[in-house]
Amino acid sequence: MAGISQTAEPPIRIDTHLAPGGERSLADDVLDGLTRPFKELPPKHFYDSRGAQLFDRICELPEYYPTRAERSILEGSAPQIAACTQAVELVELGSGTAAKTRLLLDAMASAGHLRRYIPVDVTESMVRTSAEALVAEYPGLEVHGLIGDFERHLDEVPVASGARLLAFLGGTLGNFTPGSRRRMLRTMARLLGPEDHLLLGCDLVKDPGVIEAAYDDSQGVTAEFNRNVLHVVNRELDADFRPECFDHVAFFDRRHEWVEMRLRSVRAQTVRVGALDLEVSFAAGEEMRTEVSAKFTSDRVQGDLAAAGLELADWYTDPQEMFALSLARPTG
Ligand code: SAH
Ligand code: TRP
Repeated sequence: MAGISQTAEPPIRIDTHLAPGGERSLADDVLDGLTRPFKELPPKHFYDSRGAQLFDRICELPEYYPTRAERSILEGSAPQIAACTQAVELVELGSGTAAKTRLLLDAMASAGHLRRYIPVDVTESMVRTSAEALVAEYPGLEVHGLIGDFERHLDEVPVASGARLLAFLGGTLGNFTPGSRRRMLRTMARLLGPEDHLLLGCDLVKDPGVIEAAYDDSQGVTAEFNRNVLHVVNRELDADFRPECFDHVAFFDRRHEWVEMRLRSVRAQTVRVGALDLEVSFAAGEEMRTEVSAKFTSDRVQGDLAAAGLELADWYTDPQEMFALSLARPTG
């Protein structure tokens, strides 16, 4: 009979958890950060659509080794990860364009288990665009995207539909300071049942010169990315930062073993943040912290995992030990 056709479940579902709390969180963070003696702007606000494009360019830079290193590790280990975890669904935090994710999805599809992908990212355009691309590339794949803050919205991740792999790639865990890093890992551990796994990408401690070049490239893309947070604050909070009046600074802090990104005021200046009714003065040469990117050893990763009730199941690295992927599971 005409008119009867099989209507499949829509393969894409996207839930938004940001508006209107998103702006609130930017306002809170900016007020909190700019009224301290040592000023700071928090990193999750880098990634508007311009920031996301700049980050894509960073990943292609000759100096920025982490993306290539992590990709090469995944190329070698994804089939083993799929076999070991038997995962039917992949939850990915800070998924971005999901470029490297395809290596995992391919391996899960070849193993015959792939059912669902759950990307979680603050940047709406990336969640939507990657969801559409992936359902076209992987027949039968369900994508349930979450637009939200992985520090606040992990309770919104749907209940597991079977063995789950939770991925946190790109060294993003390194962008937390140590206390909040462990808190984040504990929250992540709550998404895992006894048979589930966490796949964690961490950049490793190495020659500081190599690290610093990765965060201060010769084309100035990273500098522009760093200054992008000022454009975001100008637009969202009616501020009048002049980004060209701030220099990009990146250095490896050997004591903390992290790269610190700062913006240095090139001269004395006052900035007004309209939405907060706030005036902020910068001295000439004053530096404001915008990001840390911690570098790990296997001991540090294992210590952090143990503090979250997780243990290492496998450790994969590239031949030069630039970057590592940890496969972990709930202890016990
Ligand atoms: N996983 C990708 C992208 C890493 S860049 C890769 O490995 O290349 C970091 C990603 O995390 C960006 O897409 C950014 O939008 C997202 N992100 C940063 N802070 C976030 C937060 N608090 N909540 C959700 N997503 C966040
Ligand atoms: N997670 C990335 C990293 O730590 C983020 C990043 C790369 C970044 N380059 C940056 C953040 C420059 C701020 C500025 O490697």
